[in-house]
Amino acid sequence: MSNPAEKSDAPRSQELAAIEAEAFFYTVFEHLGYDFRHYSDASRNRRLMAFVDKHSLGTISEAQGRVLRDPALLSSFLSTMTVNVTEMFRDPLVFAKIRTELLPRLATYPSIRIWIAGCATGEEAYSVAILLDEAGLLDRTTIYATDIDSDSLRVAASAIHPADAMVGATRNYQASGGERPFSDWYIAKYDRCILSPSLRSRLEFFSHNLATDSAFGEFHLIMCRNVFIYFEETLQHRVERVFWDSLAPFGNLVIGPREGITGDGTKLFKPQDRRLGIYVKSQNQHARP
Ligand SMILES: C[S@@+](CC[C@H](N)C(=O)[O-])C[C@H]1O[C@@H](n2cnc3c(N)ncnc32)[C@H](O)[C@@H]1O
Repeated sequence: MSNPAEKSDAPRSQELAAIEAEAFFYTVFEHLGYDFRHYSDASRNRRLMAFVDKHSLGTISEAQGRVLRDPALLSSFLSTMTVNVTEMFRDPLVFAKIRTELLPRLATYPSIRIWIAGCATGEEAYSVAILLDEAGLLDRTTIYATDIDSDSLRVAASAIHPADAMVGATRNYQASGGERPFSDWYIAKYDRCILSPSLRSRLEFFSHNLATDSAFGEFHLIMCRNVFIYFEETLQHRVERVFWDSLAPFGNLVIGPREGITGDGTKLFKPQDRRLGIYVKSQNQHARP
């Protein structure tokens, strides 16, 4: 017969792990400045446990001391915390809509500024550059692509991607209305593909943390897709205010199709195509954060 005290062990250890996780993320923010305090608990804590197991650290409390003292372990922790899954022309219908509805507005500006926030390894930024080039707008555009993960940014800046990723990229490109041979945009070398230097020359990759950093310029289009899903509502609202501050009048914000703008955010952005995650900056004076 099982001991009733044993039955309650699992929930208690989960509760303890949740308390330790809160303390861990608070300490990492206080001492190192990386703020994961307002990421969604479930996936954040699961990733933290995966990190603890990967390095056989025993408990979250033990991991806390080690991460503070060991830069290599910190770097591994940061990589575990960020999900950098991406692909070129991901959600092709979004890119089709950018092609047909957003580019004509962008074409009215003498110089175009775009911010891709949470760019991971850069595929989304290169996809936007391709759309702009096909519309004859790339030579007057600068695309600022940012992320917190320095390993991802290094890959993005190299413009080198695995050759087998080009199969899905070609399919997505065609589904987005692309009509050229997709191989025009890269040179294949063994198992790697190097994206065209003409695309790379209009892209600037750098580190920017949406949880702690502020606006750094004015943009006509901001894309931040598949990042809000990891954030709690308070953090999402913080980022929405940064985006509102960063957008030119009537500028567009594009978020992931599975993400939404709710609560206070609805004062800042009006849906242009909610299904595809396309919003427009609200001009309402009272919207000012
Ligand atoms: C799933 S990827 C999305 C990539 C791309 N936007 C897309 O939709 O394919 C999420 C990215 O958000 C980044 N990220 C997470 N928290 C962030 C933060 N606080 N500031 C900036 N980027 C962040 C991660 O490092 C990761 O590269």
